[in-house]
Amino acid sequence: MTGDLFDNVAEAQPPREEIAEGAVLLRGFAKPIESELIAAVRAIVVQAPFRRMTTPGGYQMSVAMTNCGECGWITDHTGYRYDPIDPRSDVPWPAMPPQFRDLARRAAEQGGFAGFAPDACLVNRYEPGTRLSLHQDKDELDYSAPIVSVSLGLPAIFLFGGMARSDKTRRFRLVHGDVVVWGGPSRLAYHGVAPLADGEHTLLGRQRINLTFRRTR
Ligand code: SIN
Ligand code: FE2
Repeated sequence: MTGDLFDNVAEAQPPREEIAEGAVLLRGFAKPIESELIAAVRAIVVQAPFRRMTTPGGYQMSVAMTNCGECGWITDHTGYRYDPIDPRSDVPWPAMPPQFRDLARRAAEQGGFAGFAPDACLVNRYEPGTRLSLHQDKDELDYSAPIVSVSLGLPAIFLFGGMARSDKTRRFRLVHGDVVVWGGPSRLAYHGVAPLADGEHTLLGRQRINLTFRRTR
């Protein structure tokens, strides 16, 4: 009993926090498999390296991205879309590792979305100073499935708002191993990431890696 008590003191935050209706923050949920996740990301970027994509408006994104799964999210001068082929290499995106699928399914279940079967995983790399402006994830055909987001490496401030861009946003500090799930009434909530503060993570160095799992069709 005493051991449990002291273990809990180290983790002052509740492990499951409802941040909005249909949205939960699962602190440390991915931590037990951190090494497998990092090894899998390293293998993915050998096949499909990180690249900074261009928005339809002609801006180069500060966040570098790649994907794994049956399709990947891309943006270029023609728009945003999911594509089974990596345009950089003209071959399919790397397969989604089984431990990614399993983690996403287990996290979604904790958020109240049983049976989540993602077909795409967008892998984002943030370096100090990079940010992701407020947006909705709305390029998927099926909004009944949630979004599952896994944070690795440096901490970030995640902004989570409402259905309108102008709605007030709340700020959540996400650290290595934290997972956020949003779906149902929160599926189209505006969200983003504040400019990343500099730092050094023991496993990943000066970067934050984020995995977002989606069901696109
Ligand atoms: C995203 O909105 O695609 C990524 C969110 C994050 O990096 O936490
Ligand atoms: Fe997003």
